[in-house]
Amino acid sequence: MTASPETTASPETIRFLLARRSAKIVTIVEPGPSPEELTTILTIAARVPDHGKLAPWRFILFEGEARAAFGEVLARRFAEVEPRATPDMIAFERARFLRAPVVVGIVSSVQDHVKVPAWEQQLSAGAVGANMVAACEALGYAPAWLTEWYGYDEGIAAALGLGPNERMAGFVYIGSRSVPKDDRPRPALADVVTTWSPR
Ligand SMILES: Cc1cc2nc3c(=O)[nH]c(=O)nc-3n(C[C@H](O)[C@H](O)[C@H](O)COP(=O)(O)O)c2cc1C
Repeated sequence: MTASPETTASPETIRFLLARRSAKIVTIVEPGPSPEELTTILTIAARVPDHGKLAPWRFILFEGEARAAFGEVLARRFAEVEPRATPDMIAFERARFLRAPVVVGIVSSVQDHVKVPAWEQQLSAGAVGANMVAACEALGYAPAWLTEWYGYDEGIAAALGLGPNERMAGFVYIGSRSVPKDDRPRPALADVVTTWSPR
């Protein structure tokens, strides 16, 4: 087969991906993406490898005043599951979703399928998160992908209307950077790469 004359090479994308870096949640500030930019972010997030074209994921948006309203849900549930919670801790829960202008919940929605196992559908949800944080940063925004306690709490799952085959893949907080990007240690390829050869 000969190479297509239409090149897909994008050195800028390579430079971008080599330096991609999430933000620390405490450093995220206004502004968040515009409605058009958020649509672009979600469109890119939904453009991921997906065996069987099942789209085994969906998004829940938390914007504007809904973030404070959801904070009330978090605070109530936190007090329920953590009887020793202090007023400060409850207040933190109330303000949790106010830490960024926009929060996108990524729901992994596994479907029964004869050919596509749950594992592959969950991996696709992970790819959604990775595409989403990359898209945020490529538009100039600061993302933080967190699960925290409420990502695993069944009371919160019920409050969010998750079905029996659904679970949170995380919440992507999106705003702007208030501090320059740092980096964190990255794995040495020598530690994670082997070359298979026959024994
Ligand atoms: C599924 C998933 C859940 C995460 N949940 C948390 C979390 O609850 N708390 C946290 O501090 N970091 C969490 N992280 C890590 C943050 O996203 C962290 O900022 C990220 O690993 C930084 O990576 P990067 O610099 O390569 O973007 C999570 C990451 C993933 C993939």
